[in-house]
Amino acid sequence: MPEIRSIGVIGLGAMGAGIAQLAIEAGYETVGREVTVELGQAAADRIGHFLTRKVEKGQLEQGHRDAAVHRLMVTGELEALADCDLVIEAIVEELEPKRALFAELDRICRPDAILATNTSALSVTEIAAATTRPERVVGMHFFNPAPLMPLIEVVQAELTSDDAMEVAAAVGARFGKEVVRCHDTPGFIVNRVLIPLLNDCLRVLDEARVTPEALDLALTNGAGWPMGPCALVDLVGIDVHVHAAEALYARSRDPRMAPPARVVSMKDAGLLGRKSGRGFYTYD
Ligand SMILES: NC(=O)c1ccc[n+]([C@@H]2O[C@H](COP(=O)([O-])OP(=O)(O)OC[C@H]3O[C@@H](n4cnc5c(N)ncnc54)[C@H](O)[C@@H]3O)[C@@H](O)[C@H]2O)c1
Repeated sequence: MPEIRSIGVIGLGAMGAGIAQLAIEAGYETVGREVTVELGQAAADRIGHFLTRKVEKGQLEQGHRDAAVHRLMVTGELEALADCDLVIEAIVEELEPKRALFAELDRICRPDAILATNTSALSVTEIAAATTRPERVVGMHFFNPAPLMPLIEVVQAELTSDDAMEVAAAVGARFGKEVVRCHDTPGFIVNRVLIPLLNDCLRVLDEARVTPEALDLALTNGAGWPMGPCALVDLVGIDVHVHAAEALYARSRDPRMAPPARVVSMKDAGLLGRKSGRGFYTYD
């Protein structure tokens, strides 16, 4: 199994910045690529700020924080990832931009480098097929927020080698995560179960004529959920949920995957949950 020393992270948005933070905290030399250096620097500043908060809370020593921040280099150039042993992609959830990026990475990165995608709902196999090394392409599906959520699904696409799976799982473990391996089917494990379940919950709002508060109260008290479904969809983002549900519906043709009309309308109206200040609930 090749040793991983340096990690590239592409897209330093909600997920990529969290993944880059995990990588530097785990001791990897890390190159983060955004569309511009300015966006990359803004993400690096956010990561530095999170690590400072960990120091203030007594969860991290100042020296370790400074060393971690030092391990992160941000760039706007894809070529800067040429020497990375593992590249984790976390750009927009659309197939064609991901396939174009993987074709570029295939050209730029060493032949033995492993390329991972953090896609939630797309086919890892289709992304891998844009490269000449599908055996070295793997899914590494993190959960939001990546630094806090303990799970990574490591996904074996049709042609992914066992060796690439081992490497991705070993890196996930060094990030301090629980790693579960699975095959490349729509939604993998968690979203395969959670997306239709949340859709069912949201349909019940209209069917049983209950308020979001009542539905959340029912599921937290009657089913032991740590958080009600409406609060959870608000946290995930109404747009993110609709997008994932539509992508999984397109691949699975399972009607339970299709987003209920009510949340599609909310998305269209800009009611996106916590991030927009209003979803099922209102936030300050
Ligand atoms: N948000 C979630 O809950 C969640 C959870 C698990 C997985 N994911 C997956 O992670 C990926 C990223 O999602 P996100 O929520 O972080 O999105 P985001 O919109 O917050 O971040 C995407 C970032 O990628 C950058 N970007 C776009 N194209 C790029 C390119 N070619 N090179 C470099 N940077 C580029 C954008 O500027 C943006 O900052 C998606 O595939 C998504 O499905 C998201």
